[in-house]
Order: sequence, then C-alpha cells, then structure tokens
Amino acid sequence: MSEMPSRTPIVAGNWKLNLTVGEALALVKALRAEADGLEGVEVVVGPVATALHPVAGALEGSSIGLAAQNTHWEDRGAFTGELSPELLKDVGCTHVIVGHSERRQLFGETDEGVNRKVRAVLAKGLTPILCVGETLAQREAGETLEVVLGQVEAGLEGVEDASAVVLAYEPVWAIGTGKTAKPEDAQEVHAAIRGKLGQVAPRVRILYGGSVKPANAAELLAQEDIDGALVGGASLRADTFVPIIRAALPGG
Ligand code: 13P
Repeated sequence: MSEMPSRTPIVAGNWKLNLTVGEALALVKALRAEADGLEGVEVVVGPVATALHPVAGALEGSSIGLAAQNTHWEDRGAFTGELSPELLKDVGCTHVIVGHSERRQLFGETDEGVNRKVRAVLAKGLTPILCVGETLAQREAGETLEVVLGQVEAGLEGVEDASAVVLAYEPVWAIGTGKTAKPEDAQEVHAAIRGKLGQVAPRVRILYGGSVKPANAAELLAQEDIDGALVGGASLRADTFVPIIRAALPGG
C-alpha cells in the first residue's frame, strides 16, 4: 500500500483590482495578528502590483507568502506596462498567479502565453499558481473535463516537475457570482486533474476557487483532492479570510 500523500493546504487571497496601499497594509496587519505562524496551512496574499513592495515589507518575518496577480514571461526589455518574474522576486514575491480566467477572458491570454509565464516564474524559483476552469457554456455542453484538462496540459508543457506548480481550479461561472461548485462536482474535476499529473501527482496542491466563503469553505476543503482555496472577494477582509484559513487547518 502506498503512503497517504500529505499535502500542506494553501489558502491564497487574490485581491484583484482592490485596496490602496493603506488599505492593504491595514489588512496585512490584521492577518499577521490572526494568521501568522499557523502550522499546517500556508497563507498567501495577492495584492495589486503597486502594493507588492510595501506589503512585502509589512510581511517581513511572517510566514505569509506574497503573490503577484500576473507577470510577463520576459525579464526585461521593451514591454511597456509589464512586470517580470525577476522584478517580482526582487520585491519579495514568493508566488505568481498565472492564467486567471479574468486574464484569459478580458485580456486575451492564451494557453501558450500562460505556459511561457509558468516556465518563466519557475525559472526564477517562484511558485506559479496556474489557474484553469470552464465557462458556464462549456459546462452545460459537457466539456468541463476536456477544457480543464486541456488547460492543465498546455499550461504545464515543458515543465519538468509539476509539483513546483500550484494548480487552481476555478470554474468561471462560480467566480464572483456567489455560486459555488458542489463539493462533489469540484472533487470530480480535482481528481481528474490529479490523474493527469503523473508520478508527482500525490504531491501537487490543487486549490479550488470560486465564491469560497467562511460558510462553504469547510465542506469544499474536506474533499480528498481539494488542497486549499484561491479566494477573491472574501480575502479582502480579515473577518472573512481568517475563517477560511482556519477551515483549512488540520482538523479545522
Ligand atoms: P471570488 O472568491 O470573488 O469568487 O473570486 C475567486 C477568484 O477568482 C480567485 O482567484
């Protein structure tokens, strides 16, 4: 019998286009007071780009990781308006969210570009959080697994060790809508993703995202193949983010 895999859950907040530097620092202060140094869960926050550097300073000496929400794949050059893995590492990022559905849908990101970003982030020793997920139309057409597994495969092309990547399954129809995937439906997709990951599969963290709230976190996180959460709206306040972190604790 093989050993039960032990995957430390991750609860990551994607603040999207929200919070000034001052608001971000106030939130970090509250999170440090309540969610620093917890054993058995990794906590990550994802501020807007202009807040990354000050938030990194405010997180110094804490166990809380820092995620950028996007990056370009090149490190430097004539790419007006872009940020790079080198610069994100320079200001203290530990993670980079890559291929969020809002980037794919609103800003034209392709599987190929997402893959280049994943590889560029890994090359700098940072952890990509690779997001995948189907639209409502794709789910209704019965294409969920085909779409999601296709995005996973494309996003990880050429990646030698997929366990260096964190995956996030975020059904597009569940993001910011208050609609959450049923835990068993999410589990089905997570298990299918894990089934694609080969030998390292037992070690890869696969997060669920899409209207995760204190009220639904525990039953989602209880699913065998759900290894944490990527949280949008509820990550903007300590009183909604901390209970989700606590739900991910062993025995939580
Ligand atoms: P919500 O939690 O606001 O639905 O957002 C989820 C998400 O997109 C996290 O990346």
